[in-house]
Amino acid sequence: MITIIVAADQNNLIGKKGTDNGMPWHNSEDFKHFRSTTLNHTLLMGKTTYQAIGKPLPKRHTIVLSHNFEDDRVEVVDDLVGTIKAFKERGEDLFISGGASVYKQALPYCDQILLSRIPGDYTGETYFPDFSEYNYRLVEEKPFETFTLEIYQK
Ligand SMILES: NC(=O)c1ccc[n+]([C@@H]2O[C@H](COP(=O)([O-])OP(=O)(O)OC[C@H]3O[C@@H](n4cnc5c(N)ncnc54)[C@H](OP(=O)(O)O)[C@@H]3O)[C@@H](O)[C@H]2O)c1
Repeated sequence: MITIIVAADQNNLIGKKGTDNGMPWHNSEDFKHFRSTTLNHTLLMGKTTYQAIGKPLPKRHTIVLSHNFEDDRVEVVDDLVGTIKAFKERGEDLFISGGASVYKQALPYCDQILLSRIPGDYTGETYFPDFSEYNYRLVEEKPFETFTLEIYQK
């Protein structure tokens, strides 16, 4: 399954420049959810997101999308659609982990969106793209203590 995993506030804000990891908030419960969901799987993320995190996340294979980047701790690719198709053909799980530009390009090819809805109205400059045209349906809302997990499937 190809899954978009994202955390967004009530206005779909996802990113803020200048914070220690690029996120507009600190939500440890959501980090735990991200970790347990993606552990031992592969993450695909844009170069800006990877650089905001600063290092590969432990116990996960990290693929970074870039036209011009080298880091021997991760796999670097410049073909988003080809990478997604290869995972689909092998029946392997892939977690699309942002940022906005990668979500936007990946939305037509994914099966599922796991959106952690962080309550409140934060400041930042990067937003999750509108996905109303891609036929994702909200199939479940799972309440956590500090956020609600919205699960959308095609
Ligand atoms: N709240 C969340 O769940 C969440 C999750 C992830 C990220 N974020 C936030 O989102 C923000 C970053 O988003 P962003 O849109 O600015 O950047 P991004 O998508 O993380 O990275 C953009 C870069 O990725 C590379 N790239 C993108 N598409 C490509 C393609 N098709 N082929 C080759 N390279 C490609 C390009 O690198 P080159 O210029 O090197 O070619 C591009 O400059 C940060 O604030 C981050 O913290 C939030």
